[in-house]
Amino acid sequence: MGPKSASSPPVIVAPSLLSADFAHLADEVRAIESAGADWLHLDVMDGHFVPNITFGPMLVRALRPHTRIRFDIHLMIAPVDPFLAAFVEAGADLISLHPEAGPHLHRSLQTIRALGKRAGVVLNPATPLDHALTVLDMVDLVLVMTVNPGFGGQSFLPSQLPRIAALRRAIDDSGRAIRLSVDGGITPATAALVREAGADVLVAGTAVFGAVDRAGAISAIRGRGAGGPS
Ligand code: DX5
Ligand code: ZN
Repeated sequence: MGPKSASSPPVIVAPSLLSADFAHLADEVRAIESAGADWLHLDVMDGHFVPNITFGPMLVRALRPHTRIRFDIHLMIAPVDPFLAAFVEAGADLISLHPEAGPHLHRSLQTIRALGKRAGVVLNPATPLDHALTVLDMVDLVLVMTVNPGFGGQSFLPSQLPRIAALRRAIDDSGRAIRLSVDGGITPATAALVREAGADVLVAGTAVFGAVDRAGAISAIRGRGAGGPS
């Protein structure tokens, strides 16, 4: 892929709350908003679809009054349909789900959009691209997992780069304003690789919340680090 054209949408950086200090979540959200984060990525895990448990709509609702930042909800729960309305009511702006979370991906996406919110589809590292391609007319975002979901702090899987590039081409061919997100093992170094492959939303937990200089980390992931704009 060549450099982005002047008309390319700006790169979004979405810190993942999973790596925040859970004893001070409202402070953490305000801090990363001040540090320049664009969206807040919220990982919802049920201990069943993925081998970890995090939080549900009550926490989303509790955080909503503390920030104006967009809430990017990543659902790793099964079933997913019974909880969509609760996350919308709690303050979600965008809800993404995995095709494996239920038998009716298309219906689940319809439900999110009927509730007035933006919808995304998430691909695990071994999920065929077709699961996203067949619903491209239904989504506002495609999220490629660059680790297996469940935990922060894992190593980036380079095997996902050609998949990101293929989705970039498919999205461009569609002519629709669909965001292409990546999630897992994103650091300033891997961010450069996924941006080059065509990603324009970068989720990062450890690399932002674990940084002493969070504003610097967000800028570096966005591609405006010490090396200058890219
Ligand atoms: C993993 C989550 C990620 C996680 C990323 O299941 O979906 O959002 O927080 O964490 P890092 O950036 O540390 O890999
Ligand atoms: Zn996530």
